[in-house]
Amino acid sequence: MSTESYSDLFSCAGKVAVVVGSSGLIGREVCAALRAGGADVWEADVSHALDVPRAIPMDVTDEISIEHALDTVVASAGRIDIVVNCAYPRTADWGADVDDVAIESWTKNLDAQLGGTFALCRAAARRMKDTGGSVVSLSSIYGLIGPSWEVYEGTTMTMPSAYSAIKAGVLGLTRFLATRYGSSGIRFNAVSPGGVFDSQAERFVQRYEALTPLGRMARPRDVVGAIVFLASDAACYITGQNIVVDGGWTTR
Ligand SMILES: NC(=O)c1ccc[n+]([C@@H]2O[C@H](COP(=O)([O-])OP(=O)(O)OC[C@H]3O[C@@H](n4cnc5c(N)ncnc54)[C@H](O)[C@@H]3O)[C@@H](O)[C@H]2O)c1
Repeated sequence: MSTESYSDLFSCAGKVAVVVGSSGLIGREVCAALRAGGADVWEADVSHALDVPRAIPMDVTDEISIEHALDTVVASAGRIDIVVNCAYPRTADWGADVDDVAIESWTKNLDAQLGGTFALCRAAARRMKDTGGSVVSLSSIYGLIGPSWEVYEGTTMTMPSAYSAIKAGVLGLTRFLATRYGSSGIRFNAVSPGGVFDSQAERFVQRYEALTPLGRMARPRDVVGAIVFLASDAACYITGQNIVVDGGWTTR
């Protein structure tokens, strides 16, 4: 039997964390959960709520902005142990039907979301190469399976084709980075949530819930457990993986 204590296994105490997209639905909750776990949390976003402590501007579509933000954290906190990417940049026409979407728009979203994820992950790895660390990217159930179109019928909502390509890309990129930077002790993992309730159309919510084995959409707080786990030392031998947090949606 190991004589090591397990009391700190899931703790993030003493770790320096940067949460990107920190003002969003999921990002806000990730910040709160990492703080509750003891981490020194830096909130990075293109748009910040007022009075946010440790807030730094960051635009994941701008490499200089990423570099500057991460350097600000290192200059103040000394290092970065955890990066969670919850940023979700998208064009004004995001959500256009597959028949209508302009290729330029499709490419722009791919560039901002997948390209932004790559730029952030690489910039994080450069700052973690001597100390190791954990990087968690947000993918989605739609990185794994095709959309169920019946949930959108009769609503103005739809699912952009670029989203599936981007989210599958995040998973491939996560595996690439895991093998590339494993020898530096940097872990790259993904979390794939199902639909998170955000006051969507009632018809959509009802149909979505009927197709979900656990019978409801996710709450933002349902998603953060997997993220904190991957950030913590409890996941120290896990890299290149994806944790699906979807109430069982992808089991069908
Ligand atoms: N909400 C869901 O149902 C759901 C489901 C599955 C996966 N996801 C994924 O989770 C992630 C977060 O989603 P969310 O629902 O919290 O989104 P959100 O729109 O609520 O929040 C996104 C945040 O990203 C910030 N942002 C936008 N452009 C940025 C940029 N260029 N640089 C830095 N920050 C930028 C926004 O200001 C916002 O605070 C996304 O990757 C999304 O695809 C969400």
